[in-house]
Amino acid sequence: MRIRKAVFPVAGMGTRFLPATKASAKEMLPVVDKPLIQYAVQEAINAGAQELIFITGRSKNSIMDHFDKAYELEAELEARGKQKLLETVQDIVPSGVTCIFIRQSEALGLGHAVLCAWPAVGDEDFYVILADDLIDGRLQPALSQMHRVYQQYGTSVLAVQRVPKEETGSYGVVDAQPIGPGLNEIKRIVEKPKPEEAPSNLAVVGRYILTPRIFKLLERTQRGAGGEIQLTDAISAMLNEQTVLAYEFEGTRYDCGSKLGYLRANVEYGLKHPDLADEFKAYLTSLTAGWHHGAEHVGTIVKKG
Ligand code: UTP
Repeated sequence: MRIRKAVFPVAGMGTRFLPATKASAKEMLPVVDKPLIQYAVQEAINAGAQELIFITGRSKNSIMDHFDKAYELEAELEARGKQKLLETVQDIVPSGVTCIFIRQSEALGLGHAVLCAWPAVGDEDFYVILADDLIDGRLQPALSQMHRVYQQYGTSVLAVQRVPKEETGSYGVVDAQPIGPGLNEIKRIVEKPKPEEAPSNLAVVGRYILTPRIFKLLERTQRGAGGEIQLTDAISAMLNEQTVLAYEFEGTRYDCGSKLGYLRANVEYGLKHPDLADEFKAYLTSLTAGWHHGAEHVGTIVKKG
């Protein structure tokens, strides 16, 4: 049992990142040197996806360009003998993987964005990945961990994470019964519940494996929280018909839709980046040493060697 198709809803307004997202997509924000969407695409390909379906909105041309061949750039890099850089732009989408772009004409919500993928997904189980949730899987990427669960149970699987109770209002939250290590069967799911109404602190984050039944249910889903067509509401309807599992993946999630989460991701990925790690660590050390000594400005970058 393999999953071949991955859906990337990238048509949101990205209001929390204005003005950066005024003319370009939130998913094109870089973490160190790669845009968020490239991390997400890589994770999907690692988990077996061969068809990438992007649900785009206004000002998403940069995403299409990023996954397209860049003839002029490649010719220029080749002429200058920049082989390593050439490979980094050529390897973005491996051969055998195809990209499909579907326009969501109005940002009516995540559920509506997923529904737009129906003609391309058809009657197959599929992945949904929200690129602004960047996940650094501990031993394996989060989606590959979920795929393992899917291979065993053959049913929908949602990635979940425990969040502080006061933050439940930002997530879909599940009421679930444990059935194995990190694995729960969902009994109920609620979109953005107030902390006092939340059934638990297990929150759904941006990775899903869904059966195509979701499309029929999304078609019938009315606007819910925030006036949007919510994926959570269609999943809630699916619970009456099919088993849906909640899987607590191993790894760290960075909420790159928020400024603080995005900064954290840049710092932590910078500290692991092979070309930057040493210098960046030295810089952060000098910066924090300055704080400890009460210095107001620390502008020195400690250079190695
Ligand atoms: P968010 O809830 O993060 O909304 O969407 P947003 O518009 O991107 O960002 P803010 O809250 O205004 O800052 C979750 C995911 O669903 C996609 C977004 O692109 C994001 O990946 N989405 C949301 C759509 O594709 N279409 C929509 O109509 C809404």
